[in-house]
Parts: sequence; structure tokens; C-alpha cells
Amino acid sequence: MIEQKKIIKHNLKIKYSNLKKSNSMNFLDVSLQNYVNSNKNFFNDVDLYSNKKIFKDVEMENKFLKTIYQLIYVNKINRFCEFKNRQKELCEFNNSVTSLMRINSIMSQGTSSILKWKKLNLHKSCFDLAIYTQLIQDIEPSIIIEYGSGDGASALWMEDIIKSLKMKTKIFSYDIADINIKDTEIIFKKIDLTKHFPKITNKKVKKLVFEDAHVNVLNVLINTDKILNKDDYLIIEDSGHKMNIINKFLSKSKNKYKVDTFYTDFFGINATSAINSILKVM
Ligand SMILES: C[S@@+](CC[C@H](N)C(=O)[O-])C[C@H]1O[C@@H](n2cnc3c(N)ncnc32)[C@H](O)[C@@H]1O
Repeated sequence: MIEQKKIIKHNLKIKYSNLKKSNSMNFLDVSLQNYVNSNKNFFNDVDLYSNKKIFKDVEMENKFLKTIYQLIYVNKINRFCEFKNRQKELCEFNNSVTSLMRINSIMSQGTSSILKWKKLNLHKSCFDLAIYTQLIQDIEPSIIIEYGSGDGASALWMEDIIKSLKMKTKIFSYDIADINIKDTEIIFKKIDLTKHFPKITNKKVKKLVFEDAHVNVLNVLINTDKILNKDDYLIIEDSGHKMNIINKFLSKSKNKYKVDTFYTDFFGINATSAINSILKVM
């Protein structure tokens, strides 16, 4: 079984690189079918192998199928990717860094209203909310650190997820503004991240960090790197305009980070505000 999987992986790797150069639709071959069949997911239910067409336009269908191949190849075989390489890997469907159309990305935080949690504004997209729910239960962090509390809703939401999962995670949320929320165990702390950095334990306990304050980002990341250890996660939100900063950070960091494409690509290539920036310490 292991040997068979190895062969499928090897074949997929070759097929994927050939496929990128070609326009042929004849790539839904045995190795892909086997791979899809042995890894239960949504794509098993897509009627790929019948005569039914998902798109009327052959070119669109071709691109869609290439994206499926890309998702299966990248996510399942090369889950952890170098940030530099990922920047060059565009979505096959729309030749963009994300599968999301700009309009979908803008609308994913709500149209008639921003999302609310406990009546407070929650600045998260529908995709990110689902991805973080998955990630928190998978990695079970002991500590969550959030730079940029907003109204406090995101920390409150995470606290509720944690409590419902019966986890004992401690949440620290930092903001330049005072957050006055009662009846919570979250530690909200006022700090100006352009001038100071919070004192956070560097103990080897599993940490999950969100950079969502968007100020002094390089220094905030460099200071965060000092308290992170193997298997911790660092998520840099709204990272579309932070690519240079992230590149700089990764060239200076003590830890080695890789993009966890299982999460960034959960709903399509980079269907998240954390474009190529759900990073795992390797
Ligand atoms: C995008 S909001 C955070 C949203 C929140 N994490 C959520 O998901 O709902 C950015 C936050 O960064 C905070 N901020 C801005 N400048 C800051 C600074 N110099 N130091 C600390 N926080 C700052 C703002 O007050 C704002 O609440």
C-alpha cells in the first residue's frame, strides 16, 4: 500500500509538471483517479469522469481540472512549501495568487454587514473563520497570541471555540486601544506595537500567533520569532501587501517556516486573507 502510494505520488509529480506546460485535457489518468479514490474528499463527488461538463467552455473546464490537479498535488503531496516557491505558484484557473476573484474576496467579510460575534464586529472572512476553526482543533495550541484585537470579537470567538473543544488554551490579545470586555478569561493588553513588544513566554508550549495589527510588521514578526519553536504556527493576515516584509522576515528569522498549504488552500489556492502566510515552524 505504501509502495503503491509512493508510485502514485511520483506519477502525479511528473504529470503535474507536464500538465502545466500542456493544454491537453487528457490528464485525468489512472494515477489521479487512484489518488482521488484513496483520499476521500469533496472531489470524489465531483463528476469528473463522466460526460457531464462542469463548464460549457472547454478552456474553462481545462483550467478548472488543472486547478483540481494542482490542489491534489500541492496539498496532499507537497503540503509544506517554501514561501518563495509558493509566490511563483499561481492558481491554474485564473493565473492569480488566489483562486478567489477579487469581488469574492472583498465580499467574504460580509456585504450587508460585517460578521458579528456576540454583537461585536468580527473582522474575519467566511473562509478564515472556517480555516481557523479547523486549524485550532488540529494543532491544539496552549497559547494563542493576537496582535490587533479590533473590538475583541475575534479573541472572544476563539475562546468559545476552545471552550467547546474542552481545550485549556490561554489567549493574549494586544491592541493600542483599551478593550473592556467582562466575563472572559482572555488577557487583553493595551500596547503600542510601534514602540513596544509584549513580554511573552518563550517556553516550548504550542503557540498560535495572529499578526492582525498591521503596524511595525517586520519588527513584530522578528520579536515573535524569538518566542516560537518547532510546530508553532504564525498567521499573517491581510498579507497581500506584506509580501516584501514577509520575505525580509524569513531571511532574518532564527526559525525555518513553511507555508502550510493544507490550510491556505482549504477552499481553493490561497482562499484566505493570509495569502501564503499560514506558516508552520519546521
Ligand atoms: C484589523 S483590526 C484587528 C481585527 C481583529 N483581529 C478581528 O479579527 O476582529 C487592527 C487592530 O490593530 C490595532 N492597532 C493599530 N495600531 C496599533 C498599534 N500601534 N499597536 C497595537 N495595535 C494597533 C487597531 O486598534 C485595530 O483594533
